[in-house]
Order: sequence, then structure tokens, then C-alpha cells
Amino acid sequence: MSRRAVGSTRRNGSFPFSGAFNSKSKSSPLLPIGLVVVGAILLIGYVYKGSGVLGGAKVVSRVDGDFSCTLEVQRAIPFLKKAYSGSMHRVLHIGPDTCSVVSALLKDEEIEAWGVEPYEIEDADRTCRSLVRKGIVRVADIKFHLPYKAKSFSLVIVSDALDYLSPKYLNRTLPELARVSSDGLVIFSGFPGQQKAKVSELSKFGRPAKMRSSSWWIRYFVQTSLEENEAANKKFEQATSKESYQPSCQVFHLNSYH
Ligand SMILES: *[C@@H]1O[C@H](CO)[C@@H](O)[C@H](O)[C@H]1NC(C)=O
Repeated sequence: MSRRAVGSTRRNGSFPFSGAFNSKSKSSPLLPIGLVVVGAILLIGYVYKGSGVLGGAKVVSRVDGDFSCTLEVQRAIPFLKKAYSGSMHRVLHIGPDTCSVVSALLKDEEIEAWGVEPYEIEDADRTCRSLVRKGIVRVADIKFHLPYKAKSFSLVIVSDALDYLSPKYLNRTLPELARVSSDGLVIFSGFPGQQKAKVSELSKFGRPAKMRSSSWWIRYFVQTSLEENEAANKKFEQATSKESYQPSCQVFHLNSYH
């Protein structure tokens, strides 16, 4: 949290003024004035940011690398429910921060939900620890065989996870996702140009995320014999356009293997 706070103050314009601190030894009488000026700028920046005048948090979070398709999954739940009306009863979500998605899904009485967290869970809150304890959320490396029987879930949703896999591992993981689903597979992936992993996170993810274009993905799906779920895609598009909701991630709807 503190790291993010530092990052965002920089972008509010205080960064160019950090020179005021460096000039301390030369011109110490100026320092208090400098501090007041910096303080005033920070305050103004804060107020403006709060009121959304500086363009809103969205831009900031993208620059920050905090941009997340897992968050997008949560926003998309109502639309997914419309697209997969009869197939949302046993849902598996795979991706970082899966506890947040599973918790959101479980709020709906008609949905049973499970989660796979592909990376270590850092600072899990009480809810998340409880989901892990109950076996609802598991930590598992998705590069390998998933610990579920074929067609265990009606729908499998994956976000922010495939972007980190090279084609070699995707070749194994994508068929696995299709294998454990019965009625469909939904993939949320970043648009090219959306940078996600911070340098500090590279050790966690193993490699930087590679945001592929939709044509890359479609070619890839064809290669791995995965077909578009046209009916679901159409219903999802209809539901989202009616509410003028624009997902900020690419969303692919695929059929499970028959
Ligand atoms: C992945 O699988 C496809 C289809 O079986 C194959 O054409 C391709 O060469 C594989 N790629 C890698 C990196 O193994």
C-alpha cells in the first residue's frame, strides 16, 4: 500500500520538485519555503485527484502496473451470468487474487465457486485464509496438471495468469482448463501495451507478462483445437453493450472439449 502511495504522488507532479530537497546544503533558508510550496502542490494535487479533475485513477493504476483483469472479472460477473445463465452453478476461477473473485461469486446463492491461485498468496485476509482452509481456494502451479477431475466445473474463468506463460506451457495449460470445464472457458487477458508486472514482482511471476493481440490468441486457440463459444460470446456482447460496459481486458469465450 505504501509503495502505491509513493508512486501516485509522483505522478501528481511532486517529483520534478524533489530538487528542492537536494538544494538543501546550498540554500538552506529556501528549504522551508520549498517545503511549503511542495506541500501546497501535493495538497492541490490531492484535492484535484480526489475530484477526478486530473483524469481519474484508471490512468494512474495502468501506469502503476496495478491494472488487473482479475478486477475486471468481478465487474463482469453480472454479464457473465447473462451469457452463461444455465452454466454458472459450478465456477472455477484461476488467477492471482482469486479469493476476491471467489468471494464475489459466492455472494450469489445460485453459484458454487472455487479458486486456484497460481502464485503464492501474499498478505491473505481472514476471508481468504478461511477459503484456503476449507479447500475452496487452492494454491497450485497451473503449468502442471490441475488437481481436478474432468468436467468438474460448469464454467472455468481465468484472468491474469495465461499472460505469464510461454507458448510451451500454454500448450499444456489451456487443454487442462478445457478439460476441467464442461460448459465453457472464459479467458480474460490484457491488451498489448498493458504492462502488468512490476519489476519487484518478476520473481513471483517468473517472467514478465506478455500481452498478446487478439489475433495471436485466436490463432493459438485454433492450433490447440479450442473453438469459440459463439452463443456465449453473442450473449455477452449483447449484455455488455446494453449497459455500455467496456471491459478493459480482452475476453474470449471458448467451448469445453466435447
Ligand atoms: C503447441 O502446440 C501446437 C499444436 O499442437 C504446436 O503446433 C506448437 O508447435 C506447440 N508449441 C510449442 C511451443 O510447443
